[in-house]
Order: sequence, then structure tokens, then C-alpha cells
Amino acid sequence: MSQPCVNIGMVGHVDHGKTTLVSALSGVWTDTHSEEMKRGISIRLGYADTTFRKCPNCPEPQCYTVEKTCPGCGEPSEELRTVSFVDAPGHETLMATMLSGAAIMDGAILVIAANETCPQPQTKEHLMALNIIGIENLVIVQNKIDLVPKEKVIEHYHQIKEFVKGTVAEGAPIVPISAQQNINIDALIMAMEEKIPTPVHKIDKPPHMLIARSFDINKPGTPIKKITGGVIGGTLTEGMLHPGDELEVKPGRKVESDGMTRWESIVTKVSMIVAGKENVEEATPGGLLAVGTTLDPTLTKSDSLTGQVAGLPGTLPPTRDDLKLELHLLERVVGVSDEEVIGPIKTSEPLMLNVGTATTVGVVTSARKDIAEVKLKRPVCAEGDSMVAISRRVGSRWRLIGVGVIKD
Ligand code: GTP
Repeated sequence: MSQPCVNIGMVGHVDHGKTTLVSALSGVWTDTHSEEMKRGISIRLGYADTTFRKCPNCPEPQCYTVEKTCPGCGEPSEELRTVSFVDAPGHETLMATMLSGAAIMDGAILVIAANETCPQPQTKEHLMALNIIGIENLVIVQNKIDLVPKEKVIEHYHQIKEFVKGTVAEGAPIVPISAQQNINIDALIMAMEEKIPTPVHKIDKPPHMLIARSFDINKPGTPIKKITGGVIGGTLTEGMLHPGDELEVKPGRKVESDGMTRWESIVTKVSMIVAGKENVEEATPGGLLAVGTTLDPTLTKSDSLTGQVAGLPGTLPPTRDDLKLELHLLERVVGVSDEEVIGPIKTSEPLMLNVGTATTVGVVTSARKDIAEVKLKRPVCAEGDSMVAISRRVGSRWRLIGVGVIKD
């Protein structure tokens, strides 16, 4: 399999079929190469790679497949590109995870089940998130069409059309499918080929990796001599990475001394890279990677480095304990039945912020109409002008209320 070159998000309301669709598109893992590393990622990241292929003989859309042999005519199919799917959780309490997933999506599939009226709360909240983060390359999937009669599918189609009016998804193709019964998957691949292009990446820049997951892949009781170093999973936004490269991870680790807390970046070495199910000598931007390091695996255990940034020593953006944000707030809270108006941000209020793949909480130290300053509980490593998703506590949970742009 070639290296994945694009990350496609799977978003939508809980149980609408995102995971089933990822599995329909990516099939079964058969490769035993570095199995544990991959298993770690696929379980914990909701992550899978697949290669889109095209049969040179069959007409569209039947020619699109993920099989090496065309299911229509039995001839060998030709490789188009390998993509990584980022499967975002649809449950309302997991919005922070969805938002950190959104940071690494180049495009997305909005999965909407045809057997429920549209929109359901997280259909709306996820679309709003894509809208304000600016993920424009979208395909809408109308899933579970095997469960409803044709007239209902058409009625549901019109509900979707109405719902996406005025959003980033207006004009996105709507593909009726059954992920479970494998219906119209060829038409969906065709829509992704047309609507979610491979981004043009800057490969001549130093590597910049957003860490989405980190883990310790050693089984309990492994003898010290056989311990494998910590593994980080994520995506390169630019530049290339090689085994043997030195790697700095920021903000790094928390160090407490003399009653003071500070964050110290971690320096390590890349020991191996897995991309597209294979060990690679050169990782390129786009899809998801698993990077083996020489770090003590206790440092990477249980996602402890999620949200951090990795790159060559000395090339990363600053670690920030405070953020000054230029605000762009929404009018109303979405994803709840009672969509209350969003009032201005106030001094002393707590906010949840998603910066790249990082989720952090901060307290507002100063607030004006368009600018807020926030003191973070946990620092983030981010460039000036980066976008931050802002959530506020409404009732018992965090709700997305807008975005901010980091000002220096
Ligand atoms: P979360 O990750 O929890 O948000 O759920 P999800 O969107 O990933 O949904 P999942 O793929 O787990 O599917 C939920 C249920 O719907 C499962 O029982 C699936 O078997 C079923 N399902 C998914 N797609 C289809 C479909 O096309 N037809 C039918 N009949 N059932 C489906």
C-alpha cells in the first residue's frame, strides 16, 4: 500500500454508521507487519487506511473500488491514491475529541442516517464545527437506506438539502448508501475523488507533526531488553520525517521543582515510521503516521502526548501559557434543543479551547468585544494566527460557541 496522502474525517451523530462505513471502505487488516503498532492506532484513534482504485474497463461509478480485482469484470484495478480515515466519535460528550480530530482533517464525510429525521443534534454540531474550522471539502452520506422505503429516502434527502443551506456543505454531493449492505460504495468513492482532493503540501519545510494519539505498545511483563520505545501517532502538516531524525516534542513534560511548575520540551530520536501499513524510510505529509521513538514508553502511555507537536529541534512554534484571541463567536449554541443566544465572553469565565489536536481549559483574564485573553491550565504549542475552537460551559457540558485567532 502506498503512503496515505490525505486525511478524510468521518463525522456525524452517534450511531449513524461512521465506524461501519470506515470498515466497509477499508476492509479487514490482513497485514501482520508491525501489527501491534497498527492495532494500537486503529483501536484508539478510530483510524484506517485504504487505497482507492479504478477499473479501466467499467463505466462510472461502478469502476471505483477498494478491491485489487474489479468486482464488476474481474480485471485488475488501477491504484488512484491511499487515504486515511479519521473516525470522530458522535456522542455529544465527545465533542472535544471530534474537534481535535477535525484539526487533522483535509476533508470530511458527514454521515446522516436516513431512518431518523434530519438534523439530529450532533449532525448539526459537527457540521457547525466543520463550518467554522473551515473544512470545505465535504461529501454527505445518507446512510442506512436499506431500512427505509424509497419515498422516505427522498423526503429525507430534501430535509438534508434544507438543513445544509447557507453552510459549508451547501452544494456538497449527497450519496445514498448502506454501509452495512455495501450499497453505492462505488459512488461514494467517486464523490470523494471529486470533492476531497489531495492537498498540496509544503515538503521543503521542516517537518511539523500534530500528535493525535500516543501509546506504550509493550505488553505487561515485557523484559527490559525487549521494550519498544514510546509511539506517537498523528499527521505531518508539512515537511518530511525519516528514521534517525532527532525529534523535539512540545510543550513536552511537566516538571515540578521548588513548588513551581514548568513545561520542558522532550528530545528524542525517530526509530521507525509506519505509514499505509508499512515501514517507511521517508514519511510525507497527508495521512496518518505511527512514529516509533527512543522515548521511555511511560512518557507516551495512554495518550499522554496527545495534542502536542513534534518536529526537528529548534524549529517548533512557541509554547504558550496565555492566549490572546481575536474572537469570532456564533449567534446561537447548536446541538441542543433549546438553542440559546451566545452572550459575550466574560472575565473569569472558564473556556475549553481546541488548538490543533490539543484540548485545554483556560480562564479569561480580560475580555473585550472582539478580543479575549485566556490563562491556560495546560500550555499549548502553536503558531501566531492559528485558529482555536472555543467552547463554553452550558448546563453540564462544553458547547462550541465560536473560533478565535491567536494574536501575538
Ligand atoms: P459512534 O462512533 O458511536 O458515533 O457510532 P457510529 O456512527 O460509528 O455508528 P456505527 O457504525 O457503530 O453503527 C451503529 C449501528 O448502526 C450498528 O449497529 C451498525 O451495524 C448499524 N448500521 C450502520 N450502517 C448501517 C446500514 O447501512 N444499514 C443498517 N441497517 N444498519 C447500519
